[in-house]
Amino acid sequence: MYEGEARTDETRTARTRETIMSTAKLILEGKEYELPVIEGTEQERAIDCTKLRDTTGYITYDPSYANTGSCRSQLTYIDGEKGILRYRGYPIEDLAGKVRYTTAAYLLIHGELPTREQAIEWRRQLTQNSLIHESMINFFDQFPVTAHPMNILASMVSAMSSFYPYDAEDEEHVYRNVVRLIGQVKTIAAFAYRKSRGEPVIYPRMGYSYPANFLRMMFASPAEDYRVPKVLEEALRVLLIVHLDHEQNCSTSTVRMVGSSLANIYAAVSSGVNALWGRLHGGANQAVIEMLQRIQTDGGDYKKYVAMAKDKNSGFRLMGFGHRVYKNFDPRATILKKACDDVLGTLGINDPLLDIARHLEDTALHDDFFVERKLYPNVDFYSGILYRAIGIPTDMFTVMFAMGRMPGWIAHWLEMRNDPETRIHRPRQIYVGPTVRTSAGRRAVD
Ligand code: SDX
Repeated sequence: MYEGEARTDETRTARTRETIMSTAKLILEGKEYELPVIEGTEQERAIDCTKLRDTTGYITYDPSYANTGSCRSQLTYIDGEKGILRYRGYPIEDLAGKVRYTTAAYLLIHGELPTREQAIEWRRQLTQNSLIHESMINFFDQFPVTAHPMNILASMVSAMSSFYPYDAEDEEHVYRNVVRLIGQVKTIAAFAYRKSRGEPVIYPRMGYSYPANFLRMMFASPAEDYRVPKVLEEALRVLLIVHLDHEQNCSTSTVRMVGSSLANIYAAVSSGVNALWGRLHGGANQAVIEMLQRIQTDGGDYKKYVAMAKDKNSGFRLMGFGHRVYKNFDPRATILKKACDDVLGTLGINDPLLDIARHLEDTALHDDFFVERKLYPNVDFYSGILYRAIGIPTDMFTVMFAMGRMPGWIAHWLEMRNDPETRIHRPRQIYVGPTVRTSAGRRAVD
């Protein structure tokens, strides 16, 4: 089923045992405690706090979880200092522009690159399961035309749980739901776009690649033949692969959190879509283009906006800059920046927003404010330029991010589901509210 996932309990226990390296000493109120130190395959180390409260009565405090490991994972490795991103050990540079998006998705979910036969069967299943339930098609008409496509996507993914059986113990059900989600996310995205323009929806067809099927559904007309431009198919393939996964980011952690309560996969993924929508996360790609357009409208004065970003009181941030993990370049931004040059050059597009982006990057990379804070362009900084070149409207950019990330969310959901260490996620808190008091003696006001 999932070759990489069919671990036995023995191997899991052995894996847990082998990763305990040494111990950390903690002295609290004069008493000494020893906590295990665990180490990953890339020599990352963590203090295992799973027994901290039981043994010391203390908890850790880490409001944005920046210093907290929530799980062990075999999916994606990021080295933020060296700008390294690997899916199941394969560097992103070995995959983007080199393999099909569906091949990279297979690798992430199954743990190994597919054989030719596995790849063909995987693609067949994804396309065969890419038609959405016919009863869901009229849902698009119930949204106001102003509805944001991320709202439509989150709603439609959640609604899928009403149309498809879900038995968590039935591996066949689980697998069918996996291929439905990956297959149908592109159909939902394309249908939302077509419906927003009052155009007839175009159904997916066998024999087209994942990106080509999406581009057909977006831009073909029932009135004439449509040939998918190869350069756009390739550009979209690169975009989908660089967005595939990114370890415990906000939306992926949300999918794991919701999944840990045993809510169904559609509920968990729909929650991930909503988390991705935020401007500080996947919504940044739309915010970047809106920022570049604002600078363009403002006479192209990018230096003014760099100055605003440095002024705490302005409330303005350079969207597409900075990252919680990458404290050097984001390898995905490097790949997308080159793709922008290649694709726009091939298409003969001279996008003034790309020039503004380049000026912003160059100015920021030589400005102490950004250098000291290690703020570099992230995946969202150049992706919008490419989406524009492909013809994707700005309000669809984050939907495109979700399309690429779908296999990543699913791979984490599957890994969490199969991990013996998984328990329902339930962080603690430090209470700072009123201490006990009584309402006795007060005149009843209810
Ligand atoms: C994604 O986690 C992932 O892996 C996410 C993602 C994925 O693939 O899933 O990579 C996708 O979400 C990429 C990030 C997209 N978001 C943006 O581009 C929005 C703009 N960036 C920031 O808001 C910010 O950099 C974050 C949200 C990305 C990271 O926030 P952090 O780690 O909490 O950093 P911070 O807010 O604590 O900032 C540290 C300092 C602060 O200044 P000081 O208080 O130290 O003086 O850097 C400043 C911030 O004010 N800062 C910025 C800035 N980002 C941080 N200043 C100006 N412009 C910015 N973009």
